[in-house]
Amino acid sequence: MTAKIEISGLTKQYGNNVVVDGLDLEIDSGEFLVLLGPSGCGKTTTLRCLAGLETPEEGSISFDGEPMFDADARVNVPPNKRSIGMVFQSYALWPNMTVRKNIAYPLKARKLKDALNSGRVEEAADMVDCGHLLDRLPSQLSGGQQQRIAVARGMAARPDLVLFDEPLSNLDALLRDQVRTEIRRLHDEQGFGAVFVTHDHSEAFALGDRLAIMKHGKIEQLATPQDVFDHPISEYVADFIGMSNRLELHRSGLEWSTAAGTELELRSDTFGHQAVSARLWPDDITLHRPDEDVSHQEITLDAVLLSAEFGGRFYHVQVGAGPEEYRLRASAAVHGDWLRRSKKGEPVVISFRSESLKIYPLSTEDSAR
Ligand SMILES: Nc1ncnc2c1ncn2[C@@H]1O[C@H](COP(=O)(O)OP(=O)(O)OP(=O)(O)O)[C@@H](O)[C@H]1O
Ligand SMILES: [Mg+2]
Repeated sequence: MTAKIEISGLTKQYGNNVVVDGLDLEIDSGEFLVLLGPSGCGKTTTLRCLAGLETPEEGSISFDGEPMFDADARVNVPPNKRSIGMVFQSYALWPNMTVRKNIAYPLKARKLKDALNSGRVEEAADMVDCGHLLDRLPSQLSGGQQQRIAVARGMAARPDLVLFDEPLSNLDALLRDQVRTEIRRLHDEQGFGAVFVTHDHSEAFALGDRLAIMKHGKIEQLATPQDVFDHPISEYVADFIGMSNRLELHRSGLEWSTAAGTELELRSDTFGHQAVSARLWPDDITLHRPDEDVSHQEITLDAVLLSAEFGGRFYHVQVGAGPEEYRLRASAAVHGDWLRRSKKGEPVVISFRSESLKIYPLSTEDSAR
C-alpha cells in the first residue's frame, strides 16, 4: 500500500525568491528518506509541495506513476485526495478538540467512513501508547504525549507517505530519543514511505534509509547515512554533518603546509590545486600531553588549550594552533586528571592521520552555517 514518489524539476518561488529550484528526487516505496539542511534551504516548502499545500511554478510529482502535480499538464490533486499524512512541528493539535477528534480529523477530511467506524482511531492511539488519553483535550497532555498524538494523527488514515517536519525539536533530549525510536518502529511495522525533515545530523543518521542534503532549494547529496558519513560530496555537506574541523592547506613543491606552518604529505587527490581545504572529524584527532612521546604519530601539531568541557566519558576539547582552531573529544579516563587542572593557554599536542582528511577545493562561501 505504499507508493514510489517521483519528483521532477520541482520549482517553487515566492516573488523573485526561488525557494525550491528544479528539484529532482525519487523516493522508493516504503523508504525512510531524511531531508537535511540549514534553515531556509527549502525543506518545509518541499514538504508542503508534496502535500499539495503549495502550488509549485514548475515540475511534476507522481505517486506510483499517477500524477499528483504536473505544471505542464495542469494537474493539481488537492491535499485531501493525496494519500499523505503529516506530522508538522507547526501543525499543533486542535486545542478545542479531544484527542479522539484530533486523530479522527484526517479520516474525516478524506471521508474514510469505514475506517472511522472500525476502531482505526483507537488503534492509532494505541500504536503510540496513548489509548488511555482519547477523551482528553490537548491542554491536558504533556508535550511528549501531544507529539505522540500528532504522530498517531499523521498515520491514522494509513497514508502511502508520511511527512514529518522537525517533529522532535520541541521535545527534551530523553523524549526526543523515545519518540524518534517509536517513529522508526512504526515505519518498519507499517511500511509507509516517510520524508523526515531535520537539521540535526545525528537524528538524520539514526533514522534515514537515505539522506538528501539540501542547499538553496536543490539536493546537494543523496546517499545512505554511511556513504554520506564516509564520503561527504562537498565541503558544505562535510560541514553540515559535523566534520567541523577545517584546515587550509597550501602547496609548495611536493609538500603541503597548514596556515600555522606544519608540513604534511597528502595522500588524497588535490585536483591539481595549489591550495585546498581539508575537513576532519573531531573523533579523528588525538590529544597528547606536551611531554608525551608522539614520534610514531604521522601528523602532529603544537597547540594551546582553549577549553575543555566535561561530557561524561569524554571531554569536549578545543585547541588553537596558530590561526586554526580544532575541536576533538578526549577520553576522560586518559586525560581527565590533567585536563581538570589545566588552564586556558597551556601547551598541548594534537595528532591525526593524513588519510582522515577529506580534501575539497578551497572556497570561501561553501559552508553550511
Ligand atoms: N509563504 C512564504 N512567503 C514568502 N517566502 C516564504 C514563504 N514560505 C517560505 N518562504 C521563504 O522560503 C525560504 C525557504 O523556507 P522553508 O520554510 O522551506 O525553509 P526550511 O528549510 O524549512 O527552513 P527551517 O529549517 O528554518 O524550517 C525561506 O527563505 C523563507 O523565508
Ligand atoms: Mg522548515
